[in-house]
Amino acid sequence: MPIKNRLADLHPEITGWRRHLHANPELMYDVHETAGFVVERLKEFGIDDITTGVGKTGVVATIKGKSDSKGRVIGLRADMDALPITEITGLDYASTVPGKMHACGHDGHTAMLLGAAKYLAETRNFDGTVVLIFQPAEEGGAGGKAMCDDGLMDRWGIQEVYGMHNAPGIPVGTFAIRPGPLMASSDDFEIVVTGKGGHAASPHDAIDTTLVASQIVVSLHSIVSRNIDPLKSVVLTVGTFKTDSDASNIIAHTVRMTGTVRTLDSEYRAIAEDRVRRVATDIASAYGATAVVNWAPGYPVTINSDAETQHAIEAARAVAGNVDEDTPPIMPSEDFSYMLEERPGAYMFLGNGDTAQCHHPAYNFDDEAIPVGCSWFAEIVERRMPAA
Ligand code: NI
Repeated sequence: MPIKNRLADLHPEITGWRRHLHANPELMYDVHETAGFVVERLKEFGIDDITTGVGKTGVVATIKGKSDSKGRVIGLRADMDALPITEITGLDYASTVPGKMHACGHDGHTAMLLGAAKYLAETRNFDGTVVLIFQPAEEGGAGGKAMCDDGLMDRWGIQEVYGMHNAPGIPVGTFAIRPGPLMASSDDFEIVVTGKGGHAASPHDAIDTTLVASQIVVSLHSIVSRNIDPLKSVVLTVGTFKTDSDASNIIAHTVRMTGTVRTLDSEYRAIAEDRVRRVATDIASAYGATAVVNWAPGYPVTINSDAETQHAIEAARAVAGNVDEDTPPIMPSEDFSYMLEERPGAYMFLGNGDTAQCHHPAYNFDDEAIPVGCSWFAEIVERRMPAA
């Protein structure tokens, strides 16, 4: 079965919603108008079980099937937030808010989940309950974690959860996914090294913090090459390095550096943290300096569970027929990972065609992908919870 006929009929209406959202982007948790728009549409569809303020500004709504003989509950998730980017597309529905833009296609994700909701509320051709999850703050604010911390999975009894992201560079109408790790974890660190400042001509009276910190940088780069299985994927980058002095004749007293660790293997997050801490503090100690390491855990690895990945693939095949079932993992991170830590599920890439990359000021979601994405959401529900 290809695109669902009803969703093809709804294509212009859903496109209208998408363009409205595109013109009115909101950031992080400040998605009040977007959440309000979602709630208005859901009410129009006759959906009355709607909860707002989940994870600060998330929206959760349920649709009951024609029957509920087995108590099955499936969650479908879309993200609602935009990015602090100034749009340069020149579209007639371009952002009306200076410095804010839907440059990651979350306008498309929200519109597609609304489209699937309208179809599912009309047809109810399934046995069980669908939980619609509209989350804030995917772009660095861990809105998915906030919703989980608010009891999302237990309060609504979600058993499996599915989400998707548009993918520039993949043709519209094509899906891509893989079982296991799909997107990387992202942890940040800060190291503040303190030696003893002094005169550049009298190093014996100082502890040269710049030299100590430089040794730390060099040794940090031994972690990936010497402590990680060469067949695994870990990236460590020191992104900033600043001394507290701008003068050539001063030995700095402190140096602050920051960096990031990305990996597709969760076990290496802990190993990398432990090694960064030891390398920094022990090297500083060897020189008579001190190092304070602050570790800021970010999004976990996005890991698709095996069975649900197969369900996602079967639904995608039914809709589009064109599915890359073993797409290479990518190193950006995604906070749907928090939902996948709590429940089995799968995250799917949906082709967005030959557009600018996500987070680029010329990016735009391709509206031709709408019926494909909506049909995939609906197909999963109807396949996983077939009408009794
Ligand atoms: Ni995104």
